[in-house]
Amino acid sequence: MPLLAIETTCDETAAAVITRQRTVLGSVVASQEALHARWRGVVPEVAARAHVERILPVIDEAVDRSGVHRSELEVVAVAVRPGLVGSLLVGLAAAKGIALGLGLPLVGYDHLAAHLYACRLAHGPRVRYPALGLVVSGGHTALYRVGTPTDLERLGGTIDDAVGEAFDKAAALLGLGYPGGPWIERTARDGNPRSVRLPRPLAADRDRIDMSFSGLKTALRVRVRPPGTPADQPPPTGQARADLAAAFEQAAVDTVVAKVEVALERTGLRQVLVGGGVAANSRLRAALTEAGGRHGAEVLVPPPSLCTDNAAMGAIAWEHVERGDVGGALLDVAPGTDRSAARRAR
Ligand code: KG4
Ligand code: ZN
Repeated sequence: MPLLAIETTCDETAAAVITRQRTVLGSVVASQEALHARWRGVVPEVAARAHVERILPVIDEAVDRSGVHRSELEVVAVAVRPGLVGSLLVGLAAAKGIALGLGLPLVGYDHLAAHLYACRLAHGPRVRYPALGLVVSGGHTALYRVGTPTDLERLGGTIDDAVGEAFDKAAALLGLGYPGGPWIERTARDGNPRSVRLPRPLAADRDRIDMSFSGLKTALRVRVRPPGTPADQPPPTGQARADLAAAFEQAAVDTVVAKVEVALERTGLRQVLVGGGVAANSRLRAALTEAGGRHGAEVLVPPPSLCTDNAAMGAIAWEHVERGDVGGALLDVAPGTDRSAARRAR
């Protein structure tokens, strides 16, 4: 009997139907990219209202695609933290309504743990705990000791912007579209990452697992628009833009990889689970695999469709069900707020 997972933490409205064996029968993601592109960042109020419009059709579509009748559902699961509070509340309200209406238990799960659980969906029993977890998304960038799928101990992470947020800002500076990650990746393919030297703040500090991306973003801004540049000067194009995109991407990747290496040395862990939208980036995937090799560690990354926000990773809710950790979400959900997405929109 399958589980219905609902995910509305940021700007994707998603639902999936997943069996106890962790087979995804149906998964639907309605992106709000077009709505937020104008502002080059997620506008929380716009996101919440779009979730209200989409949540029921998305759930219906996921259940239809799964071939399961709603009377066959066994559990309703919903991502309850962290995220934009207005967005979280829409998913939670829908999940509560369906659980109450169908008389099913409700399980709340953590969105970041779910990003890492996408590795379990993609790689099955190859995933072994404890592992080192790396979440690289638009709102979060952090390393964890993952004791069990649902037990994450934060070892360090960004002290300012999330790496995905930096990709989004860099794309905006270069006159590229939103979300910035895929645009930077495509544009960087024709560029030379060594043509421009950009900083890697904190990357060389072996005593800290912390990362920083705001200085990199500022350095790119100064390269693109040196002081005194007329306000109406258009962003660079052609080879100059490709070189800047490649140099930015390489600096961001180097920063993340350096801290993964410090964390591997410090913890002695031999497997790295990677999740979040930026894990879709091929330069990062290749660099992480190479770095893992240097430390005798296996690096597991989900396919790109399971890196960006989705509800299939809500399969993690089965871990809660199997532990009997069910129902609390009805009573004590306190959705965490996430200011970084709001900051990105500014
Ligand atoms: O995990 P996600 O879908 O949403 C959050 O939980 O934040 O991550 C979205 C972020 C955006 O900042 C987007 O620009 C970035 O992931 N991203 C990428 C790529 N695809 C998405 N960054 C770099 N390269 C990509 N291919
Ligand atoms: Zn996410």
